[in-house]
Formats: sequence, C-alpha cells, structure tokens
Amino acid sequence: AKIVRRTFHVGNLTITRLCQSTVITAVNGKIPGPTIDVHEGDTLVVHVINESPYDLTIHWHGIFQKLSPWADGPNMITQCPIQPGGSYAYKFNVTGQEGTLWWHAHVSYLRATVYGPLIIRPREAYPFPKPDKETTIILGEWWNDNVVDVDTQAVLTGGTPKISDAFTINGKPGDQYNCSKDMHRLTVDSGKTYLLRIINAAVDHQLFFKIAGHSFTVVAIDATYTNPYTTDVIVTAPGQTVDALMVADASPSQYYMSVKAYVSSNSPYNNSTSTAIVQYNYKTSTSPLPLKSKATMPVMPAATDINTAHRFYTGPTSLVRSGNPTVPLQVSTHMFIAFGLGVAACQPQQLLCNQTTGALAASMNNVSFQFPTDRSLLEAHYRGENSVYTADFPNKPTVLYDFTSNKISMGPFTEKATKVKRLRYNETVELVLQNTAILGTESHPIHLHGFNFFVLAQDFGNYDEFKARAMYNLIDPQVRNTVAVPAGGWAVIRFVANNPGTWIMHCHLDMHLPMGLAMVFEVEDGPTPDAILPPPPSDFPIC
Ligand code: C2O
Repeated sequence: AKIVRRTFHVGNLTITRLCQSTVITAVNGKIPGPTIDVHEGDTLVVHVINESPYDLTIHWHGIFQKLSPWADGPNMITQCPIQPGGSYAYKFNVTGQEGTLWWHAHVSYLRATVYGPLIIRPREAYPFPKPDKETTIILGEWWNDNVVDVDTQAVLTGGTPKISDAFTINGKPGDQYNCSKDMHRLTVDSGKTYLLRIINAAVDHQLFFKIAGHSFTVVAIDATYTNPYTTDVIVTAPGQTVDALMVADASPSQYYMSVKAYVSSNSPYNNSTSTAIVQYNYKTSTSPLPLKSKATMPVMPAATDINTAHRFYTGPTSLVRSGNPTVPLQVSTHMFIAFGLGVAACQPQQLLCNQTTGALAASMNNVSFQFPTDRSLLEAHYRGENSVYTADFPNKPTVLYDFTSNKISMGPFTEKATKVKRLRYNETVELVLQNTAILGTESHPIHLHGFNFFVLAQDFGNYDEFKARAMYNLIDPQVRNTVAVPAGGWAVIRFVANNPGTWIMHCHLDMHLPMGLAMVFEVEDGPTPDAILPPPPSDFPIC
C-alpha cells in the first residue's frame, strides 16, 4: 500500500458552454475535475487549496472514512467549510472497497462543477475477465448561471431552484443542444472489451444511459461487485455508480451514447438529451467501412418509464466472495423513516419567503433537518457539547397513514430541528425507508455516509412487514451507498454501525438538502482502541 498525494487548487474558471461564457468554480482548471486513481489499501492525502470566493468542502462519496470522519466533508456535519484563502488536507485510507466512486463539493450547489472520479483498483485481479481497456464516463448537469446564485435564490425564497440547462457527458453537453458541438468521443477497436465506469454526478436528476447498438454486462454498483447482469439500459440516481463491460461487437461505425432524465412525476424537470459518440477505429477494423457514416441514436425510454428504472434498480445482486461482509441476521435497532416534501414556517435566512404559505421543506419522520451554523456536528459530538443538536430523532413517524396517497392525514407542516439518532458501536440497524407522496411523488435517492448497506427488499406502495419479509434477499442482496427509493414506495436496508462519528443520511437530489431531507446517525465509540474517534487534524478548518 502506498501514500498517494494530490493537490486540488479550487478557483474560478471561465468556460463557454451552450454559447454562453460563465465563470464557474473548478478544480485545477478542469471540469470534470481530476481523476483520482488508487489501489485498495492505499492512503490518500488530498491537499485542497480554496482559491475560490466561496466556502468549500469536498466529500469522497462512498468512502467509509473508517476512523477518519474528519475527512468526510459534508458542510457543518463533519467540518466547518474551508474559507476562501484557506486550505485543508483530507487524509484517509481507502480500505475494504474496490470499484468506481467519486468526489464532489458538499456545500451549496458547488458540486455541479466541483466533482470528479475516484477509482479504486483491486490489489490483485478483478473477479471478472480482464477488460482490454477502461474508460470513465461521468454524467453531470450544467447551468448557464452561477450555481451558487441558483442555490442562494432558492434558499431566499424557500422555493425550488431553477432547472439546469443541460446534461453533460464528461463535462460536455453534446450536439443535441442549440449552439453546442463540443462532444465527448470514445474510440473503440472492433472486438475489444471495455470497462465503462459510469458515475451519476448530476445534481437533481436520475438518468437513463444507453449506447445505440450495444449492450452492457454490469459487474459492480457503488464500488461493490455484482453477479454479471446484462442490460441495454443503465439507470442511475445521483451518487450512484455502475461498472459495466461493453464488447465492441457492432458493425464498425459511429454510435451515439445518450443520457436523459428519469423522473417519476410530471413536475418540471430537465427534459433534454446529452450525447457523446462511440467511434469504431477504422484503422484497426477488418471489414470495409463507410467513410463518414451518420451515427445511430439509441431509442431512449420515456422520461417516466418507472418499470425500466425499477427493473434496473432491483436487478443486480451482489457477488458473494470470501472475505466480503455477509448480511447480519440479528438486528438491534429497527427504524421506520417516512420522508418526502412538506412545508415549514419561513426561516430567518429565507428573506424572500412568503410568510403565509411558508417555505418548501422536506423531512424525515416529520423533522426537517436544520444544519448547525457555528460548529459542525462532529466537533460538537467529539467535545461532548450537546447544545448544537438533540439525540431524539424519532424511530418512526408519529402517525402511520397512507404514505402513497396525496390525502394528507398527517399535516405536511414539519418541524425544523437538528436531531440525530444515537447508535451504539457495532450494533446492527435496519431501516425501512418509506417514500411518501405528499406534495408530489418523486423517487428520492437516499445516500448514507460512512457505510455501505444491504438492500434487502424494495417495492411500490405502503411498506407491509409481512410482504417485505417474504421478499428479503439475505443471500446476495445489493450492497450500496445510495438507494433510489421508488416514488410512493419503500426499501429496507441494513447496516452495521462499526464506524464512530456523525454520519449524514440524505437525499442526493441536491435541491432537497437545504430543504432538510436529511438526518444524522451519531455512532458512539467502541470498547477497543481501534473503535475510538481520533482527535481532529491540526489543520482542521474552524468556523
Ligand atoms: Cu455524494 Cu452527502 O453525498
């Protein structure tokens, strides 16, 4: 195992997309930012220098941060932001996980432009035939406006942020937009096998992904290996990753790779399509070729094709290997978390909020998460100061009702509060995640920091314990860090709280984060020296 050092200079970059020049915040002058490529077991030290005008934090999405929660990155949860002119070295081990993850800013809307791949290679071999080549495909979302302004505007009014102007593939919108020719190109050799590392780094949209004329064999999701799963469409929620093998076995030509939104309701969304080109290498091709053929477009699913999404989301199963954690069978804490949108009284920072109708809010068990302002939760936890939060996050909703109906039997008004759920070290937690239909049905990707979890079952409708237990996969369930809980549906997940610290669980549609679709687990120290939270590093940012 090595120590891998990287430096991120984060600052302004003037860039032209869709014929408009915009000043964005970018890492090392690039969008997407630099790819970090390590081997399992390495130690990563990323020196982040904030040359931007904004408060900044970086999160290493999906990394466990075992005993390094100070490096996790969510703003005001595990750290105060790195202020303009400041710097912080994120230092952590990359142990016990392999595959594709990513990193992104975890403050305001900055992750729209501050993001990049984090690839963890096995120390030995892949558990699938070695591909001839590997390539990373990172999907993003683009605003012509300054994204911090987009976020600030939404916060001031207590409403929803402006919809993005484009989707991107490796930072480029592609040729289906007005005034956009800039397109990612992937050149392939006939007959060769490619490992595509696909990352959904979009801000507010789940995405369908296809390549005309080609199909995929999924071999990993969220940096956990799966049994081979064949499909011609890949569906990802923001935060999720898919590693898939693709054989270049079509007739040598050009094919479009397309990306469009998957949404589960007809509320306004970005309905555009981003494209890239898969180009067969004519020089290595053995068959005669058309010199300039027109590229073929894939037929994309309808934006609301919930069945295709559900099939993909529930399809792959995990690859059981010796050494991998198995599903814990004894559960010590059961929780039922109902979440969705709602309304809350206007907050002081919501200066333009309509006092009569209140602000749009989102909640878990009717608590709309309030981010602390002067000290991060992790510091407060470490110093034993409970003035910043209370440990009374409810284990279940106060009233059970028909979650899938828009008939509100529990008022949509939520309480703004900083509540955590305290867990004993190493206890096993089972969560029922019930998506509600109040104020619109939407599939929410729920992401847990600090852990992977087993997805035992998921389905549409109201959670039914009897039905759910009959569906449990306790043999080879998916192992993920982000689960897309179906609109008006539920998922049951299980994890072992083997990592002391404070870990946020939130919706990975960024617009729902300031609205409060989040809660925090506070995991106590364990009995052994290797289970005790270490002190913060000396360069730890202060508020
Ligand atoms: Cu990828 Cu809390 O985020």
